Amino acid sequence: MRLFHFLFVFLFIGTQNWAQIPHWLGGVDGNSAKIKAFPTSEQAKQDAVWEILDPASGKIRRIRLSLRKIGSHSIWSAHATELDENRLYLYRLLVKGQDTTYLGNFRTFSQRPISFRFALSSCSFRPGSPAYIPIVEFKPSLFLHLGDLHYENIETNRIEDHIKPYLDRFLLGKKEQALCLQVPMAYIWDDHDYCGNNSSGPSACGDAARAAYLSAFPAYEPYRMGAGLAHAFQQGSVRFIVLDLRSERRESNIMSEEQMQWFKAELLKSHQSHLVSVVLSSVSWYGNEQDNWGGFPKQRQEILDFVNEQGIEKLVWMCGDAHMNALDDGRNESYPLKKAPRIPFPVIQAGSLLSFGSHKGGTYSHGAFVNPLGAGQWVECQAIDNGEGALALAVEGKQMMAGFLEPKTMFQETFFWSIPQTKPVSTKFEVDSSKGVFQVKISNPDRQSGIIYRLRTGNGRILDAAATGSSDHLLLSTANSSGIGPLFLEEENGDYKRVYGLKSAP
Ligand SMILES: [Fe+2]
Repeated sequence: MRLFHFLFVFLFIGTQNWAQIPHWLGGVDGNSAKIKAFPTSEQAKQDAVWEILDPASGKIRRIRLSLRKIGSHSIWSAHATELDENRLYLYRLLVKGQDTTYLGNFRTFSQRPISFRFALSSCSFRPGSPAYIPIVEFKPSLFLHLGDLHYENIETNRIEDHIKPYLDRFLLGKKEQALCLQVPMAYIWDDHDYCGNNSSGPSACGDAARAAYLSAFPAYEPYRMGAGLAHAFQQGSVRFIVLDLRSERRESNIMSEEQMQWFKAELLKSHQSHLVSVVLSSVSWYGNEQDNWGGFPKQRQEILDFVNEQGIEKLVWMCGDAHMNALDDGRNESYPLKKAPRIPFPVIQAGSLLSFGSHKGGTYSHGAFVNPLGAGQWVECQAIDNGEGALALAVEGKQMMAGFLEPKTMFQETFFWSIPQTKPVSTKFEVDSSKGVFQVKISNPDRQSGIIYRLRTGNGRILDAAATGSSDHLLLSTANSSGIGPLFLEEENGDYKRVYGLKSAP
């Protein structure tokens, strides 16, 4: 199947004219999406329309693309609004006189509990990463690029200079276009795609880089206009908080005081709404280098103290910058904290798409995998929300060598959270997954009758179910748990229900 997929991607990219109009989608939320496309100067003279088809209802929407010229670049853009929530849409670009078929697709997000996938990576020194096709095959709702989209190190204050590498080093790549046709993006810069190696802080170059980003990338709205690019958006029970750790740096601060206050407010709002906060950081959280969080110990400490004091438990930190995939479950956080007990949170490094390997410090419980030459690395995530108080995030580190057909899995782990229930629970259970049989031994010390227990997979399939009677011990089991993924234990008694996360992906 995988070989056919490769052939399909190769053939359709090679034969469709409009698909060669470089474009990307982003800014997706529950009812809207944005597109930016780059026609040739000849194409730009034509009227063009972004046509969006809802295959479920057959309804077609046509939105005229508005043209903006910046230097030698022509940019078409459109913002589709009033779309339906969690709906798959097909789209095409209709340029006058061209007969085309629908080739692109995207799915709108949802504000309600929903299970979905996303992928992330960073650092594409060269275009054509072997990671892109497997990422498309994973079918994520979103691809997050955590910086160094290119390494052109533009230091000028001309906006067009900053737009050029978006095309030359990303959008003109065939594999990149295959990705952009099927997966909306979110993106934040790091140094090389801001104003050059180790660049940071406000400057005329920074203003041009920001203007280029906002005019050429289909971006989420920054939390305040006129400053950095930090922004946040939500899909299901996950709040994505994207930090700008370049343009607001000054002396000992990696972000401005305004961004810090906004960030804390986002974390708190997310916590109070029982959402998982996924923080996206273009530099490594671990390590002691001057150019990553290690160089900014005061603000790093301030964040850790805030997380601890507010009891923010549903938090994951995801980073670019180091050219490696790595995962720590939180046990190796080494900073001293004012208050105990400390709340650990997972720290993930995702990268690189295609760059020389590098390790920027830190110890990782599940390993740190520096890029071998020619390999593309990324991280795949599945957010699983059963809508009844249990959230899981299954994370896999992936690597694809050039010329190989199958990606390799470097690490996998599932993190579980539950939304606090008001009713006290007395159930206790033990999990035994040895000997190829997966068993949950449940004890019910209060000897309540009529409680139903179910063993359920992340995609909702019931593996085993039983009601307790007078017995205070119950065994749920499945013979072969390999490949099943996250497992949940559900406890139900009339209107009352509670769900426990049990098992990491095997
Ligand atoms: Fe990089």
